[in-house]
Amino acid sequence: MTRRTITLPRRPFAAAVRVPGDKSLSHRALILAGMAEGTSHIAGAGPGADVASTAKVLREVGVTVTADTVTSPGVGAWRHPAAHLDCGNSGSTLRLLAGALAGRPFPSVLSGDDSLRRRPMRRLAVPLLALGGQVRLTEPAGTAPVTVGGGPGLRGATVEIELASAQVRSSFALAALQADGVSQIDSPPGFRDHTERWLHALGLGRRVTATRFEIVPGPVPVNDYAIPGDPSSAAYLWTLAALRRGATVTTPDVSLNPGRIGFLEVLEGFGAEITAEVTGHVLGDPVGTVTVRGRGLFATDVAGELATATLDELPLVGVLGALAEGVTVVRNAAELRTKESDRIATTVSMIRALGGGAEPTEDGFVVVGTGFLEPGNVDSRGDHRIAMAASVAAAAVDGAVTVTDAAAAGVSWPGFYEILERLWSSP
Ligand code: S3P
Repeated sequence: MTRRTITLPRRPFAAAVRVPGDKSLSHRALILAGMAEGTSHIAGAGPGADVASTAKVLREVGVTVTADTVTSPGVGAWRHPAAHLDCGNSGSTLRLLAGALAGRPFPSVLSGDDSLRRRPMRRLAVPLLALGGQVRLTEPAGTAPVTVGGGPGLRGATVEIELASAQVRSSFALAALQADGVSQIDSPPGFRDHTERWLHALGLGRRVTATRFEIVPGPVPVNDYAIPGDPSSAAYLWTLAALRRGATVTTPDVSLNPGRIGFLEVLEGFGAEITAEVTGHVLGDPVGTVTVRGRGLFATDVAGELATATLDELPLVGVLGALAEGVTVVRNAAELRTKESDRIATTVSMIRALGGGAEPTEDGFVVVGTGFLEPGNVDSRGDHRIAMAASVAAAAVDGAVTVTDAAAAGVSWPGFYEILERLWSSP
């Protein structure tokens, strides 16, 4: 188990950092390129283990993946994988590829590491079964392994799902591309709509309402994908700036998809000064530069659609809440329990391990901001976002934060700790 002791200067810094390629978009680019017949190019894919898991599974079905190209015989010629498909720690890999593979005439068994095998997969069944797909979940808890495919061809379907889940919506869409007619999906709002925007740009779908999307089946064209930086990685640096009055960080070329940047609104609620400028689009999905300046911290609340659009960043809301004046409340975030760890439990334990006051609730947590945290040991429980959030807290501590299983950060951001230590020496 890797342990890392993190000590950071307690003074402001000014830095500009290009963060690694977006994890969500990297999965989507790899899978869409893997479904297209021919060679697609992908520039700037995320370097983490999760993205590598998607590439590995695609290789198992006959796709050639190099550092920046994907060459495929097309989804119609994917081959029956010889063994179970190991999705590692990556929920996006398992759920998105379950959709892509649901339309194949052979069965595929998708599974992963201990954490992934604890996460709920029954949510895939309703949308994929509606398309006439085969989905088999043999674990009573509805967890992986998940078997999909091996049935007759898929037919177009219209479904409404209860969760605002981009993974489930994307899984459905990737299957629906292989159906015999158009399909539609609707869900509550707040989800990241990367897949929908890209399918629209590729001529494979259209938005019907703000939340309803229509998938028009057809061959996925080869394409050149340019992956922007990951706002969920930038969020650790934005937090470091927000928690120190006078600190500034600029992150160019990050995804500004509305379902990804709820955290910027939350940071503003905490009192930080934010500028976010759209500088371009990748297949209709906005990309831009974000600057965060720290100005003191005041408690805030996160609930509803904003909680969905901030979900992966909520451990950081816990850290900020502990350092703010007042009580910070996170609600409508029960999905946190289904992530790489139970992030309601692990966020609360992290704050307590550093001397802060936090209580779990059914669908979120409450943090009593005392304005300071203390040195301590945080067990990441193998969750990359807890390891990185605890490390960021070190900047507010008089002493060190020790993180157990610190290497978990490599799931989304190998090299995170090195960047962290260099922030204060940036020109
Ligand atoms: C993701 C969607 C979100 C997010 C996850 C990545 C994606 O999950 O939390 O980290 O790439 O589509 P849900 O779809 O379960 O909300």
